[in-house]
This record gives sequence, C-alpha cells and structure tokens, in this order.
Amino acid sequence: MAAAGDPKGWTGWGFSKWKAGWRRLWRSEEEPSKPQDDDGAPLIQRLALQASLTFPGPGDPGDLEATSGFRENLGRLQSLLGQVRARDLRLAPRRASGRAPGRPPFTYMRICETPAFSLGVFLLRAGARIPLHDHPGMHGLLRVLYGTVRIRCLDRLEPGGGPGPGALRQQAPPPGTPEGATPRPGVLRSEAEYTEASAPCVLSPSQDNLHQILAVRGPAAFLDILAPPYDPTLGRECHYYQMLERLPLGAEEAQGGATWDLPRAVWLLETPEADDFWGEEEPYPGPKVLL
Ligand SMILES: [Fe+2]
Repeated sequence: MAAAGDPKGWTGWGFSKWKAGWRRLWRSEEEPSKPQDDDGAPLIQRLALQASLTFPGPGDPGDLEATSGFRENLGRLQSLLGQVRARDLRLAPRRASGRAPGRPPFTYMRICETPAFSLGVFLLRAGARIPLHDHPGMHGLLRVLYGTVRIRCLDRLEPGGGPGPGALRQQAPPPGTPEGATPRPGVLRSEAEYTEASAPCVLSPSQDNLHQILAVRGPAAFLDILAPPYDPTLGRECHYYQMLERLPLGAEEAQGGATWDLPRAVWLLETPEADDFWGEEEPYPGPKVLL
C-alpha cells in the first residue's frame, strides 16, 4: 500500500514494527493463473483486473472522478468485490483465541500491489481495533470476508467550507481537549456493522475518507482495496485521529437524544500512532493474481 522503502511500509501503519522475515508470496508458483481475458479466471483475478481498469494510475483523484467511465467501472468493481467470499481466497474463518503477549492484533495478506492500487486481506483478532485514520487523496473499498466489523466513517470539515453541518463548525473545542492541541472540525457520517452479507464499504477522497474499524463478537477479516496506495513521498501518509464529541456535556439529554442522529459534528484531534496497533504480514493462500 505504499512505496518500497517507505519507513512506515506500504499501508502507512507501524510497519517499522513489522517483524522481518515475511516473504512476498502473493505470486506463488503453486497455481498458474488463467488468461486475463478468461471469464473463468478466479474471481480475485477478475477483481484485480477490474481494479486496474477503474484505477488506471495514481494521478490526481479529482481528475479520476471526472473521467468518463469511472463511475461505471467503480460500480463494476463494487459488484465484483461484493461477490468475493472467504473461500474464493482459500481462507477459513479463524476462531477466537485469547490475547497472547507478542501476538499482533492484526495480520495482512498481500495479494497484489501496483502504483495505482493495492489489494490485500486484513485479518483482525477478536476485539482488534484499527484506529481512526485517513486516506489522503485515495479511494478505498472494504469487503468483509468473515466475522463482523463495526465501521465508523467520518470526514474532516475544511475551514470555510466542505461537507457537513456547517453551523456546528463555529463551536469551541470540547472540555478536556489537551492543552496546545488543535482539534479540527469533522463530521461522523455513519456507524454500522458489516458482515459477509453486507455490500462493500466505500470511501473516496471527498466522502467517508476517515474510518475506524473494530472486530466485534470474534475474529474478522476483510478484503481491502486502496487506490492509490499510501505513499508518504507523494503526500499520501496515514494520519491518526481521536474523535471528540463537539456537543457540551448534557446537551445530549437536553435535546432528547437527538444529538446521536447522523451525520453528527465532531472534533478530530490528530494523534500519534497507537503503540498497541501493529501487525505482521502472512502468506496469502489463494489464487495468485497477475496483472
Ligand atoms: Fe483504512
């Protein structure tokens, strides 16, 4: 998800913490791939090809969205992604196990990566949380393969404009904001649980660009497409945030609970990467992808 040599690795997350020794096995020689134009090709191969059509290069995302055919291609990509099941990737749902010291909260299976997009699987242990983070200038699609994840989707509100409930941009930062910190206005757009029965969760440079992901009621796994991948050298570095409620204490009750309606104005406080958020890479066991 990020350029080779990126000190934080290809997802922009704590890859300095990733343990050495994992091999790149996403192009194993165990199973030859079918021709690229073969309708009988593995679903993951067709998905990767559609991703390469939808995201032909890492160019300006604004230009990409204005490109003729982009919406149609994105729709086809979402449709294909929605068909992928764990068994298509030769993944068996994992059982819950206790939190063991030294074991990461998540692992990642790299399927393929180009300058235009990355495709891989995140496997979360029960209760694992991917902290609130952004995807600068990027598109993303997430498809749950097994288990349940609760996803919060947010956006930053740019000063003087941007989406969201504008009147609340004027509120003061909430009590408890760390001294010297500068929270930025944001909007919590949605919070929902996703399973393998759910349609993919989609983000874009301008909509639902921030999210937090939590594995609930057991382990979970999801297929992840990022386009283009994180790359700090090109301004696509992952930032982490803490969400602070913007309404003063007691306002929720005063408004009869209506404050929990969505979308809801919040504050976003940029934070360092959490020490307990780290992962390892593991081999991808499914059909190989050739582009
Ligand atoms: Fe993400």
